[in-house]
Order: sequence, then structure tokens, then C-alpha cells
Amino acid sequence: DRVVLAFSGGLDTSVILKWLQTTYRCEVVTFTADLGQGEELEPARRKAELMGVKQEHIFVDDLREEFVRDYVFPMMRANALYEGLYLLGTSIARPLIAKRQVEIARQVGADAVSHGATGKGNDQVRFELGYYALAPDIKVIAPWREWDLTSRTALIAFAEAHQIPVPKDKRGESPFSTDANLLHTSSEGKVLEDPWEEVPDYVYSRTVNPEDAPDAPEIITIDFERGDAVAINGEGLSPASLLAKLNDLGRTHGIGRLDLVENRFVGMKSRGMYETPGGTILHLAHRGIEQITLDRGAAHLKDELAPRYAELIYNGLWFSPEREMLQALVDHSQQKVTGTVRLKLYKGGVHVIGRKSPYSLYSEKVVTFEDDAGAYDQRDAEGFIKLNALRLRLLGRRDC
Ligand code: ARG
Ligand code: SIN
Repeated sequence: DRVVLAFSGGLDTSVILKWLQTTYRCEVVTFTADLGQGEELEPARRKAELMGVKQEHIFVDDLREEFVRDYVFPMMRANALYEGLYLLGTSIARPLIAKRQVEIARQVGADAVSHGATGKGNDQVRFELGYYALAPDIKVIAPWREWDLTSRTALIAFAEAHQIPVPKDKRGESPFSTDANLLHTSSEGKVLEDPWEEVPDYVYSRTVNPEDAPDAPEIITIDFERGDAVAINGEGLSPASLLAKLNDLGRTHGIGRLDLVENRFVGMKSRGMYETPGGTILHLAHRGIEQITLDRGAAHLKDELAPRYAELIYNGLWFSPEREMLQALVDHSQQKVTGTVRLKLYKGGVHVIGRKSPYSLYSEKVVTFEDDAGAYDQRDAEGFIKLNALRLRLLGRRDC
């Protein structure tokens, strides 16, 4: 039998590769995705080679543009935040990995797929709901739920017994579970498990401490077309290069750090630290352009649905009819979300300081406190208020 493993080249998935070969006795095909995690991918290829994976069974794919264009941007159009704060950086990457893994399985004639997520978290759910949605009869092997390596110590012993190199930082106190891509880096476990203890400095990897950020603010503009960012400071960029550029800006100014205790789908609370530099800028900029281009009714309906949409992504239901229905609604709302936002980046903060659009609904003529030359008749407000007050007055007469 043949199995396609989502293989990062790190300790856990290396152990899984060996375990699948020795315990399961199956032929392993590795798939390593470049989602902009900022790590070299060639070491993963070499590792797979060293562990006996055939040349034609080692897949290393650059998915950065697809990731940002078809996953991150659609999610950004919805202003999705899980539990009001989390920009879903890990959650949104899992469906793409699952999709590509299933494609490779078809290509090489594999009947099973495998991943390195534990039985305690969200990622197992996201990977596997993706697999089953796209390949209903696929076999799933989740080693963490099956093997007897029940602790990290056991895992490291297995690695050593099989000549798998164990990085120094996986032995000491510092290790925690991390996941990185173009949108974010997340860290969980070990030193972070006590929610009362502040996140130590060394856990942060892609933002400067806001306290050490430049004393001078930086002003940038972002152009949007139909809800998607297309240019920074007037320079047109592809989705992945645009997000990469915002990440650089966010890093410099210490933007997008989040310390959060969240509710996992499986039922437990967990404490995580997230760094989403570019995504944080993008999220606030998108809200800025929507402020002038979206009608109130459209905007408020979107705001009501955004938590639902976010929860679907968090829970692994990207490939579901309800996510697609909400996406259609969100995308429809973005037809006129075109224009430019000006932002100030300063010591961890992102501030919208200007917005303009050819489709702006903002009318200075109507809103001005100066002479509006008849654009708005203040006398209309009297009847508007009286009718809105009618029920309150009837109640008041009865109850006061
Ligand atoms: N708690 C976050 C989420 O559920 C991050 C998960 C990180 N996953 C990982 N394999 N390190 O989306
Ligand atoms: C894991 O369990 O593998 C990481 C955490 C999560 O998926 O929520």
C-alpha cells in the first residue's frame, strides 16, 4: 500500500515517516508545501531521500500564490476573526494542504493519506474533513492517535533509535508546537501552557517588540480592487508578494502580536501566541475601505455573518456548502470595495488615517455641519424620530 504523508521535514513528521515505513510497512510518498513558512524546502527533500523515499515519490510544491489568492484573500474579504481576535493563520492553510495531498494520492495511486497533527487539536479535524470532502473513500492514518509514543520523550527516543537527528531546541525547555506560513506563526505548549505567565520574548520570531519599534511612524497606502489588496504605495503586487511586503512592514513596527486563550473544536481551551504582521494590517485596511464603500445594511449583515464564517474555517469546514454559500454572499458584497486606504504604522499599532474610492458612499455635502445647501432637510428627522418613538411612548404611558 501507498500513503501520502504531509511532511514538513521536522522531527515529528520524520518520526512518522519512519514509523509508517517500519510499523505500517507501507510505501511512503512525501508532500512538502511551501506556504511561505520561511524555511528551506531542500532539506526536507534530502531527508526524505535519506529515509529511502523514491525520487518520484518526493513532492515539494510552492503553493504561496495559491494560498494567498484562493484562501487568505477570500477569508480577508469576510473580515473573519475567530473569537473576535484570531486571524486564523493555521486554520486557513489546512484545507489547501489537504487538497494537494489528495491530488498527489490520485496521481501516484495511493489509497491513504497521513498527517502529523495530534489527537488533541484542531488540525487533525481540518486535515481530515478536507480529505473526506475531496476523496470520500480515502484511508486516513493519524499516527499520533495510534502509536505508543505517548510523550515527546518517547518520540525523541524513537528518533534516536532510528538515526533521526533531533534538533537541540527539541530537548530543552523551549520547545513548543509551532506552525508558520505567509499569514502567521503560531506557538503553543510548554512555557505557554500557564495562561497567567507572560509569553517570553524568545517565543516571538517575526515581529520586533513594539516597545523597541522605530519612534517615527510610517505612512503607507494600500489599494483595493473588489475587496482584494492589489498594491502598496502605488506598486502593484501579486497576492503572495503583497502579503510578504506587509509582513516586512509589520515586523519592523511590531504589529500583529496576539496572546490568546481559545476554545478548540474538540472541547478544550488552549493558550496560543500568534504573530500575524501583514494579516493584521490587511484586516484593518480592508475594514477601512469597506467603511466608505459598503452600504450600512450590507456591512451590518456581513458583520453578523463573519463570526459564523470564521467558526466554519476554524472547525475545518472550508470545503462545505455552508462556507461556500457565505463566500458567495461575501464576494457579492465586494463588487464596489475598490479604492485606497492610507495607514499609519506605529509601535505595534495600525491606524487607518485616510480612505478614498471612486465608489464612495460618503457624502460630505450631506453630512457637513456647515451650510449643506439643501442636501439634507433637518425637518425630516422630526417625523423619523416621532415614529420610532411611538412604541416607546405607548410603553411609557402604560408602565411609567
Ligand atoms: N490554535 C491554532 C489553531 O487551531 C493554531 C494551531 C497550531 N497548529 C500546530 N500544528 N502547531 O488554528
Ligand atoms: C496539534 O494538535 O497537532 C496542534 C494543535 C491543534 O491542532 O490545535
